[in-house]
Amino acid sequence: MGQFCNQGGRAEPLYELLREQLGERLPAWMAKGESGDLRWESASCLSMCGGGPNAVIYPEDVAYNHLDKSTLEAIINALKAGEDLPK
Ligand code: FES
Repeated sequence: MGQFCNQGGRAEPLYELLREQLGERLPAWMAKGESGDLRWESASCLSMCGGGPNAVIYPEDVAYNHLDKSTLEAIINALKAGEDLPK
């Protein structure tokens, strides 16, 4: 949700999709728990500003750049199903 990733509000549909699919975001210290539940937080900057909108999936430590709604839906569906993350 940083100034470059959310230029013109382009990250807001992604934020809404996360909220719809996974519930309200959590503060970072809660989102990084070890429970195995899907949790999310928003970042002000991931230091990949030229590739935004960006997302990083943990604990896999996989980054997605130029993220759009269909890719984010595929990521969420894969995580919920316990399947491999989309390329
Ligand atoms: S503003 Fe998104 S990575 Fe920097």
